[in-house]
Amino acid sequence: MPPVQQPADLDAVRESYDRCADAYVEMDAGSLDAQPWLRAGLAAFAESVRGLGPVLDVGGGPGGVTAHLAGLGLDASGVDLSPRMVEHARRRYPDLRFSVCSATDLDLGPASLGGVLGWWSLFNLPREALPGVLKTFAEALVPGGQALVGTHVGEGDIARTEGYGGHPVNWTTHLYRPEELAGMLADAGLDPVAEVRLPARPGRRARRCCSPRGARPDPSGQAAGRVARCRRATTTPSTTTSARPPTDSRNGSDPGSAPCAPTATSAVSPGAMPMTVPIA
Ligand SMILES: C[S@@+](CC[C@H](N)C(=O)[O-])C[C@H]1O[C@@H](n2cnc3c(N)ncnc32)[C@H](O)[C@@H]1O
Repeated sequence: MPPVQQPADLDAVRESYDRCADAYVEMDAGSLDAQPWLRAGLAAFAESVRGLGPVLDVGGGPGGVTAHLAGLGLDASGVDLSPRMVEHARRRYPDLRFSVCSATDLDLGPASLGGVLGWWSLFNLPREALPGVLKTFAEALVPGGQALVGTHVGEGDIARTEGYGGHPVNWTTHLYRPEELAGMLADAGLDPVAEVRLPARPGRRARRCCSPRGARPDPSGQAAGRVARCRRATTTPSTTTSARPPTDSRNGSDPGSAPCAPTATSAVSPGAMPMTVPIA
């Protein structure tokens, strides 16, 4: 597959996260403590991919979610664009593996992962780069493997000039409508199986540090998590039953010889963003 298009602002995004990485950790910005619905999503994801292979947390920041998944019994590791974030991850979780890498530069073997996450880490990618990254995810998954993507809901882009702790940053937050994201996952070869849509928190507004470029955060939900599964046929019987339906519900064909269909698309709701990114 051709390499993913490199974002023109990659250096600026990396330097920005390097600048606010210490504050991100001090603020415990990615904490899941007050996020029962997100923890539930991660638990369902972990249950679905356990035993299928390693799990890669792409844009895992200082490693909190990677460690959470490891605690759920997954062979989880993380990569992140920001060396400072990775330093924190290695210091906080010395038993886990973390490396510096952009989501746009992943060198993953085909069918090498049981699961992959883009957990509030893909919203800085230029819109034209996201499909290629999702395709990379899809191709790296074993049959029945799952991708979990969390991001901010809305329309348009927001230019950020201030990040965690008020540090100067230079990045764009690209907002997505859940159905738009579902379409992109499907185009990448992944069948959406679940969605968690989180409502905007009362009283939150775009901060002065954000200059919306036609951005319209979704009033009904400022964040969404999506799980999609690898569409390729499962060849390992032991994973077939748990990871895939007994038959393709659209055409009745045997999923062992045909792409499997979405088995369940369930929407569960709310919660709130796991971090204090002020976009709504
Ligand atoms: C809002 S933080 C989320 C971190 C982590 N997923 C969490 O939930 O705590 C966004 C992270 O995405 C990383 N990131 C941004 N662009 C990236 C890219 N192109 N490749 C890899 N990581 C990226 C940033 O360095 C940062 O650590």
